Parts: sequence; structure tokens; C-alpha cells
Amino acid sequence: MKEELRLDSGYTKGFVSKKDLDDIFPEVEKAHNFLMRRSGPGGELTGWLHLPEVIDEELIEDIENAASGMTCGSDAVIIVGIGGSYLGSRAAIEALAAPIARKKIFFAGHNMCGEYISDLLNELKDKDISVNVISKSGTTTEPAIAFRIIEGFLKKKYGADEMKKRIVCTTDKEKGALKSIADKKGYKSFVIPDSVGGRFSVLTPVGLLPIACAGINIRDLIEGAAEQRQESLLCDLGSNISYKYAAIRNILYRRGKKIEILSSFDHRFRYLSEWWKQLFGESEGKDARGIFPVSCDFSADLHSMGQLIQEGERNIFETFLIVEQENMSAPIPRDEEDLDGLNYLAGMQVDHVNRKAYQAAAEAHFEGGVPNSTVLVPERSASCLGRLFYFFEKAAAVSAYMSGVNPFNQPGVEAYKKKMFKLLGKPGTSDKRQATSD
Ligand code: PA5
Repeated sequence: MKEELRLDSGYTKGFVSKKDLDDIFPEVEKAHNFLMRRSGPGGELTGWLHLPEVIDEELIEDIENAASGMTCGSDAVIIVGIGGSYLGSRAAIEALAAPIARKKIFFAGHNMCGEYISDLLNELKDKDISVNVISKSGTTTEPAIAFRIIEGFLKKKYGADEMKKRIVCTTDKEKGALKSIADKKGYKSFVIPDSVGGRFSVLTPVGLLPIACAGINIRDLIEGAAEQRQESLLCDLGSNISYKYAAIRNILYRRGKKIEILSSFDHRFRYLSEWWKQLFGESEGKDARGIFPVSCDFSADLHSMGQLIQEGERNIFETFLIVEQENMSAPIPRDEEDLDGLNYLAGMQVDHVNRKAYQAAAEAHFEGGVPNSTVLVPERSASCLGRLFYFFEKAAAVSAYMSGVNPFNQPGVEAYKKKMFKLLGKPGTSDKRQATSD
């Protein structure tokens, strides 16, 4: 069954007109041509566009078999990775995994907090463990450190032969330290395609293996993405909601709306928002340009950020992410005494109240000068999440091209790394001039 996403842009009225959309359309067309013909900056990194169509049965089976090997023989699976090698799978797992499967999944290598990794290994010391270490470059510091510690822990626990069966690497087909480690030690490996950058890699083994380990149906996820791909092939703003979203964002940005909030009313989408922030922030934030992406987890954040959104500086626009299907598992009971005055809600589902909070916030924020659109998701399912991943990926690429930047590079992330490596004394990074004058 088709479960289409919809984009409701009713609350952009007065901020974005039909004429604005007509006027910006030639830029959408140019961005579309860049992307589809691979002729724009970074065109060699557009392999993600076709992933849902070209992924083959053999690879899906290999991923499913690896996942079942890792989960059947273990109480816990540690996923090691950061940024694009972490956020997509975490987004899917937090959004969809059944509680019992979710409890088996742990993450490492996404921070450099010593206590985090020592607490994690302490918690898992009596459990059987499998590991999936993910790094396209194979040299990223955080996952490399975490993996070195975890590998040592597994070696001590199991010995080299058994450890080998418990580690799966996801990395480049030929380059990088992780590739050398995998080859030398004989770990099972999955390949990250050359043509897919980190933040666009959730539908490669980078995302699919951890997601499968959490018991989520990766075939449904891929199918949803494939359907969304089909629906976003045409260059028009009527049927192609990725392009309409990209166009609206750029119009608002040029009118001083420099901050976009992705607001969800389901805490399970918190990591989808984190994935979205990386996708848009790294794709657009360069050459002194870029919408600053932030996220809110409503209704909780209505009680903290709501004031600023309603009445602070008018440099914000908002995108709501709303699941249409109401969950019926939590009705509000009637109370004889009604001391809390809530009997007017008796018999309603908590989700229904949540829905009204969304409708109220969208209207109030609009009236307060925050134009907003809503991405309506029919249900919380693997297929709809696959659609969402693809919807946002295509929108990010087109939106970045419209803004005149290369969507697929991230040169700025190197600046702090160079300084950090120098501070740490990494071989080859010392600056003799500075060392003598310091
Ligand atoms: O989008 C990106 O390219 C980054 O976020 C990377 O995914 C992140 O830095 C991790 O890189 P790697 O997979 O090489 O370890």
C-alpha cells in the first residue's frame, strides 16, 4: 500500500506567495539538472539518489544474515561510528525498534567521553557482545579510539579466534586504516560505495546493518525510499514535495529567516532530527551561507523554547514532523472527583491531545511571525521512515544547490581537527615555527 508523505504549507501564507514560488522555480530546475545529470559540484557523490532502486537482493540477504548472526549469538550489539556513520541508524532504531530489540543495541565512538565507554563496557562485561564498526574514511578519531578499546576488551573476553567472529566492519572498499585492520585480522566487511557520502549513507550497509540488528524490516525501509524516489523524479513544485520544501526554505532564508526548527511531537523522532540537522547543516553551511538547523521535541520544548519561538527575534521558520495515525493505547480516564479539572478530556486518547497541541502551536507560531510547514507522515513504520530519509536527502541536495554551494563536501570540519591533532602531538602535525615561539 502506498503511504505518501504530504507537505502542508498553509502557514507560510503571507510569507511565501505563488509568485515567489514561480520566481524561484528556474533555480529549482537548475538544481534539479545539476543533481540528476550529476553535473553540479560534488556530482561524483550522488550515488545515494539511486540506492533504493539499485540495491541488490544478494546484499540485502548478506546484511540480514550478518544481523541475525550478530543478534542470535549475543545479548548486546555495539554500533561504533559517528556523524553520517551513526546518526541514520540511530534515527531509525530510536524511531522504530521494538523495546526488547532496542535494549540490545548500544552505541559507541560517537563521543570522546571516557566515562561513557568505561561505563558501557562495565555494563556489558557479563554479556555476549557483537560489534559493527563503521567508518568510511577508516581514520575518524572517535570511532577509532572506541574500537581500539572495544577490540581489546573482546580479545580479553573471547580470545582472538572467537573475537574475529564477533566483529563486522563497514568501510571503504580499499582505503583507510579500518580496511587494513579488517583485511589483516579477517573481520567480515561491508563496503560503503565511493559515490555516497556519510550523511547520505543510511540506505547503504552503514545504516542497514545496525537497523537490521534492531529487528527493523530493512526491505520495507528500502521500498519506502524507492517509492519516494519515484515520486520525486519530476521537476515540479506540485507533486515533488522535496522541491517544494527546498524552494520554501530558500525563499524564507532570503527574507531573513536564518534558522529552521524541525519540530516533532513524538520523542522517538529525536534522533531523526539529529540526522536531519547533520544532513542540512553539513550540506548547506559553507561559503558564509546556510540556514541554521535546530530541533525541538514537543510538547516538552513548548515549555522551554516556546517563548522564544513565539516572541523572540523573528528570524525563525519551522517545519513540523507529524505522524497522522493516532495511537489508541492511552485513553484518559474519568475521575469522580475531578479535582484536577481534567474530566473534559475523559475518554480522549493522549495522542489526540498531542495532535491538538500541534495544531495550536502551528497556528500560534504562524500568528507570532514564524511561518511553518508540516511534513505529514501517515504512520510510524519502516516504509514511511524510508520515505522520510529520501525526501529529506533530495530536499537537502536541491536546497544546497539553490543556495549556490556544493551539497556534498564538508571542508570546514577539518579546521578543528588540525588543531586537535597538533595539540595531541599526532606525528606529522607539529608546527615548528609556533613550537619555538611558544
Ligand atoms: O557526513 C560526513 O561525511 C561526516 O559526518 C562523516 O560521516 C563522519 O565524520 C564520520 O566519518 P567516517 O565515516 O569517515 O568515520
